[in-house]
Amino acid sequence: MTGDGGIGRLRGVAQALAIILVIAFTVQAHVPTETMADRGRNRGHAAGAPPESGVRPARHRRDRQGAGVEIVGGKPTPPGALSFVTLVLVDLGNGFYNQCGGSLIAPRYVLTAAHCVEDEAGERWPAEAFRLAIGQTNVHWFDPDSGYRVSAVFQHPKWNAPSFAYDAAVLQLTEPVPPGVAQPFPFVDAGEALYDSAGQPAVVAGWGNTSENGRLSDRLLQADLRIASDAGCRQAYRADVVSAVMICASFKGRDSCQGDSGGPLIAQEVSGFRTKRVKAGKHRKRTKSIPMYRPVEIMGIVSFGQGCAQKGYPGVYTRLSNPEINAFITSVVAS
Ligand code: ARG
Repeated sequence: MTGDGGIGRLRGVAQALAIILVIAFTVQAHVPTETMADRGRNRGHAAGAPPESGVRPARHRRDRQGAGVEIVGGKPTPPGALSFVTLVLVDLGNGFYNQCGGSLIAPRYVLTAAHCVEDEAGERWPAEAFRLAIGQTNVHWFDPDSGYRVSAVFQHPKWNAPSFAYDAAVLQLTEPVPPGVAQPFPFVDAGEALYDSAGQPAVVAGWGNTSENGRLSDRLLQADLRIASDAGCRQAYRADVVSAVMICASFKGRDSCQGDSGGPLIAQEVSGFRTKRVKAGKHRKRTKSIPMYRPVEIMGIVSFGQGCAQKGYPGVYTRLSNPEINAFITSVVAS
């Protein structure tokens, strides 16, 4: 058979490629590879916990190759934009790892999720265990020792780990963040339901996993979502899972994920339109106007979800327009 030589050569090339891949993989395997999703999965959940795997604070060690935390289906946030988005790191004695996201809401206060500041047993971590990266988009070279420190940790008094209700916490910093580093971002008022209706555009940002079983990202990512209807979201999860202190958001192929918890869901408004030329028939072209969005106010905190970007399962966020959630945050910041 005449083709054999060619196939043999192809095989040889394939083998060489395979060997290179194995070597590359082995080199990579020297860094710890446990992902946030893995940790979430390996963890026990209290009975009655929302029906999702990664509900618990996901953990990524910062020394992992390519470590960082991201969003599924997102795009990089340009440096300088969304500078209030914070990376929350924790050291429990083995070095710092990326714990969660957060938002600078006042010069000395960062909003995050209640589940981000305690262990599986519900033991709250001491303020000294935290470091915050603020005003950074790429955290690859971020040195936790240069991070902002925390002087007090406040969890919502009604935070309930089994149901994930009231998933809000505020970190008080030891010193204010200078306006040149990051500008605090406003959050919605109590009862301000303007942005809470189904279909409203919102954007989520974080350094969390870029796919359900994926890995953290060094670069801050953001993804445009739509607010989901309460009824639809309750139907997706068990009816009792999604309560009045939660709001859901989704978009095909996009979602927050493990490691994004604590970070902001930001309400957007249309800031203008850009025109795009599209084909309309064989020789005709038409212009289509595409809305551009501008982030206005933080309306939610990344809390939990069934996997990430799973069809039919929106991400669930702490609803900041809820008076009980809102009053807690306001009272801590005002104190
Ligand atoms: N609980 C996760 C965390 O600790 C956030 C999960 C968000 N999931 C989602 N599908 N939107 O990072």
